[in-house]
Amino acid sequence: MDQSYYEVSCQYLRSIVPEPPEIAIVLGSALGPFADSIENPVTVDYRDIPNFLISTVASHAGKLIFGTVAGRRVVCMSGRFHYYEGYDFEQLSIPVRVLKGLGVRALILTNAAGAVNLDYRPGDLMLITDHIKLMGASPMRGPNDERIGQRFFDVSRMYDPDLLKIARKAAKGSGLTVHEGVYFFMPGPQFETPAEIRAIRLLGGDAVGMSTVTEALTAAHCGLPVLGISFLANMAAGIEAAPISDDEVVAAGDAIAERFSRYVARIVEKI
Ligand code: HPA
Repeated sequence: MDQSYYEVSCQYLRSIVPEPPEIAIVLGSALGPFADSIENPVTVDYRDIPNFLISTVASHAGKLIFGTVAGRRVVCMSGRFHYYEGYDFEQLSIPVRVLKGLGVRALILTNAAGAVNLDYRPGDLMLITDHIKLMGASPMRGPNDERIGQRFFDVSRMYDPDLLKIARKAAKGSGLTVHEGVYFFMPGPQFETPAEIRAIRLLGGDAVGMSTVTEALTAAHCGLPVLGISFLANMAAGIEAAPISDDEVVAAGDAIAERFSRYVARIVEKI
């Protein structure tokens, strides 16, 4: 898909919200309630956006919300797209390219993840300093549109050091425990095996999850700075005796939602 493909979505969105957003935020499982803190919200259903994708996960709403948070114009993706839903990696690049096309200058990616690092606890956050994706193709596989980004591109500073600095500072006084570590992508939808988690730990992963990396890679390709924040919903498989359930992930998210939302708003204010 080339630039003109995304421009169709952007034109439609500009016809509804003429003022360009400054910051885009992808709301992961625990951050759904952040949407309630958006002032003067204008909501657009994914279904109505030409050339966009449609959510299939029950707990993901499937809409773009434009508005202001802490005085900044934002656009939030309430509901994201995952590889396990059946999309290929190339399709997963669409939303971020549309957000970039709207003119945002920073992208905040949030997600729920399992804690692999034994020093972490459920309910903690982790700022993503880097990621590991050993599986499958790149979202940038296939023909390259040079208007979007270069064929070969650097990803050594994909998680922007300046945004990390802001997030680190905002953590103080937030009432949250905020770690920094490496996000390890697994395709899902099954949670991992205990043996996979031991392997991930050996390889350098601190948290494990099923999203975020394609969005971060797409942003790196088109020169959009990224901040990634994982909410650690559970200890990863095999660490504790009880099996992992989606109910547990959702309940842990509910417990932290308000503080997490305030934290992200503080970050938005400083960007
Ligand atoms: N593994 C993968 N994804 C997740 C997990 C997990 O343990 N918890 C929440 N999302």
